[in-house]
Amino acid sequence: MPDTLKISFAPLSAAASGLVVCLVGEDMALSSDTAAILAPAKDLFARAAAEDGFKGKAGSFLDLIAPEKVAATRLVAAGIGKPSDWKELDVIKLGGAVCARLPDASTEATVILSTAAGPLDADQAADFALGLRLRFYSFDRYKTKKKDGETAAKKRAITLLVADDKAARKAYKAREAIADGVDLARDLVNEPPNVLYPTEFAKRAGDLARLGVDVEVLNEKDMKKLGMGALLAVGQGSTRDSHVVVMRWDGGKDGEAPVCVVGKGVCFDSGGISLKPGEGMQDMKGDMGGAAAVVGAMHALAARKARVNVVGLIGLVENMPDGNAYRPGDILTSMSGQTIEMINTDAEGRLVLADVLWYAKDRFKPKVMVNLATLTGAIMVALGQENAGLFSNNDDVAKGLTEAGLVTGEKVWRMPLAAEYDKLMDSQFADMKNTGGRYGGAITAAQFLQRFVGDTPWAHLDVAGTAMNSNKGDLNRSWGAGWGVRLLDRFVADGYER
Ligand code: BES
Ligand code: MN
Ligand code: ZN
Repeated sequence: MPDTLKISFAPLSAAASGLVVCLVGEDMALSSDTAAILAPAKDLFARAAAEDGFKGKAGSFLDLIAPEKVAATRLVAAGIGKPSDWKELDVIKLGGAVCARLPDASTEATVILSTAAGPLDADQAADFALGLRLRFYSFDRYKTKKKDGETAAKKRAITLLVADDKAARKAYKAREAIADGVDLARDLVNEPPNVLYPTEFAKRAGDLARLGVDVEVLNEKDMKKLGMGALLAVGQGSTRDSHVVVMRWDGGKDGEAPVCVVGKGVCFDSGGISLKPGEGMQDMKGDMGGAAAVVGAMHALAARKARVNVVGLIGLVENMPDGNAYRPGDILTSMSGQTIEMINTDAEGRLVLADVLWYAKDRFKPKVMVNLATLTGAIMVALGQENAGLFSNNDDVAKGLTEAGLVTGEKVWRMPLAAEYDKLMDSQFADMKNTGGRYGGAITAAQFLQRFVGDTPWAHLDVAGTAMNSNKGDLNRSWGAGWGVRLLDRFVADGYER
């Protein structure tokens, strides 16, 4: 049984008891609601704050246990700095920070969402709740023993006191859909590769049908017929079947061209015959992080009934060494008709995407196409884990993704595309090679992809550094970060429908 978090909203006039969280601004500025609750413990609170040097600075906390004469068994003051400066992301992160601060043992908590400047509005309350949700997730499915020796799952209920609980509840609906999408993507990334192989991944994507998403699963016979020689070659050394999954959500106008979101779904990347070194190879269970984000985003958009036409497409394979595996030197014919000489079987993601991007463009004639892929180690060298690499043939698309990244905190940094890089992919035997030289590895990989998108407005996000996260922040404590779900949701729907 996983841990569960129940979030509810109540009016500010409701009684607060148990663990109570209140928001304290710079120079100890309190809302009248908070001041009223604190009144009986006013002196105690002032003394504790002085002792701790707590002044309400953003990101600081002060704990009071069992303050006398106050209804609360425990008071947690969360420093919020200047709420007048708050952007959407600040409120989401505050929710995450408060969630992280709640002691393990507490099962019930109340948060007074009011500052000296007044109560938080419905959207802010819903954003705070989103932050709670994002930080709460953990992946414990395969732990049979809890830390303290208990096996029971943790059930936590958090009540948010707000000015208009009905409006907050309504605003939270879309955020809840998004949080569920993020958690779904995290689950997919965290699952081990013996459990989550291509057919099982396709089955889980199939669950989106419950939300009204139209799901089609292509098998190897279908893909052979379509001529997907690049994708099929990657999977041919695996005993698992390869699949492409097509997920359609038609929430927009009839006949309007869709946005296509495409994901790399290499369920395990051993490198194939160009075998990877052993150290860290277990992380390559997460080489389907792009596909996971696509499924998570489709969940979010469908669950909140976004008024957009969007098609999610994922290429699911396992890259394994075997007597039947593809080899360096092999020449493949992609669905586009272009031929590719293999230099390194570890450059497999681009082969999968070559066929899925071509298929998406060919079949759906999208108005814009965005792909996410854990494509290169080189992007991690360039950008670390703070930004995903953004490559695009269209400035408007690049701008839209950059802005969505800043709003959601899933940041992207634009990298160049140019003919000089493209020619590094030319081959002496075929139309192109599958790797460039040592330099600019993330760029040559992007150039390769660009050869399969025609003139469709397109962007490639290299998420190798962000999908599997070791520097967990306020909004995540899981290795599988679910990175890209909120970015895609925001970019595709262009804001919440409020
Ligand atoms: N899946 C890897 C890239 C990767 C590395 C993702 C580390 C996440 C963390 C990809 O398939 C790969 O192996 N890329 C090679 C390309 C090279 C052979 C041109 C790489 O980056 O070394
Ligand atoms: Mn690889
Ligand atoms: Zn890979």
